[in-house]
Amino acid sequence: MALYKQLGLVNTKDMFAAAFSGGYAVPAYNFNNLEQLQAIIQACVETRSPVILQVSKGARAYANSTMLRYMALGAVQYAKELGVQIPIALHLDHGDTYELAVDCINTGFSSVMIDGSHLPFEENLTLTKKVVDYANANDVSVEGELGVLAGIEDEVSSEHSHYTDPAQVEEFVEKTGVHSLAISIGTSHGAYKFKVKPGESVPPLRFDILEKVEERLPNFPIVLHGASSVLSEYVEIINRYGGSLENAVGVPEEQLRKAAKSAVCKINVDSDGRLVFTAKVREFFANNPKEFDPRKYLSPARTELIKMYKAKNENVMGSAGKV
Ligand code: G3H
Ligand code: 13P
Ligand code: ZN
Repeated sequence: MALYKQLGLVNTKDMFAAAFSGGYAVPAYNFNNLEQLQAIIQACVETRSPVILQVSKGARAYANSTMLRYMALGAVQYAKELGVQIPIALHLDHGDTYELAVDCINTGFSSVMIDGSHLPFEENLTLTKKVVDYANANDVSVEGELGVLAGIEDEVSSEHSHYTDPAQVEEFVEKTGVHSLAISIGTSHGAYKFKVKPGESVPPLRFDILEKVEERLPNFPIVLHGASSVLSEYVEIINRYGGSLENAVGVPEEQLRKAAKSAVCKINVDSDGRLVFTAKVREFFANNPKEFDPRKYLSPARTELIKMYKAKNENVMGSAGKV
């Protein structure tokens, strides 16, 4: 039996089938540390939502891949202790090599992304298919990507992304056998997704591209990256307490909710968690300059994360109550 199954994790296939027919998206939340992971699990248990725990290459480098993996495995037991056995997948976010994907599959991941979106089409196809072949032997699900989101770096806005070309999606999915596909429809990573003047609304996502992809890939799960809303209440707290995040803008929640009702079955959120965490730690230190116990200053951040993730499951993903 594949390692992840022995550990109580699930791949994303049944999750996406249920999300597709149920008109919601499974939340995919990145984590790098204990408090983020505790908050994600508690929020998803309390809202009875399936969840995808995402680990990036950078997270593996920061926290150590073994540590993160065992934390995720501990999370399965933690959820049970909290009282609800929610489906939990452990997913490699933005895997960039075959070797990395294989290493994750061999060490307990139930799902991997192979991101060849920056490569020429044929090279992306070849790399992705190679990962799918290995993953299939272990019943691990694979996410591929077509179209390039604006850079992982915060300076780049989504105006510079290369939208997915709907004409390419059928061939890519057919030839790679990939189980889900990330597409570029105007989102971008980080906290500066759109360049808008104060009072101006952000440009809508390219739902026209999404519709064309859906027509060509009936009943196929689509993934949305760069989907943080960059919630202004947390940006304001950060800026009030010494931070400097001017003009940080994200994807409006209504647009994500609309996407979640469509073929979009997985919505990725990392930056919103970072913003909540930073806001509450900054606020704590401003109000408690003598405190130096990490438990004291990390607890309010964790509590606020739980609130934010619960609200996302309820109001954005539509995944609350689906377990
Ligand atoms: O899409 C990227 C994720 O937000 C992960 O970011 O590489 O800084 O961990 P990271
Ligand atoms: P955000 O930066 O919008 O949270 O996107 C996260 C993401 O796409 C992780 O893969
Ligand atoms: Zn991403």
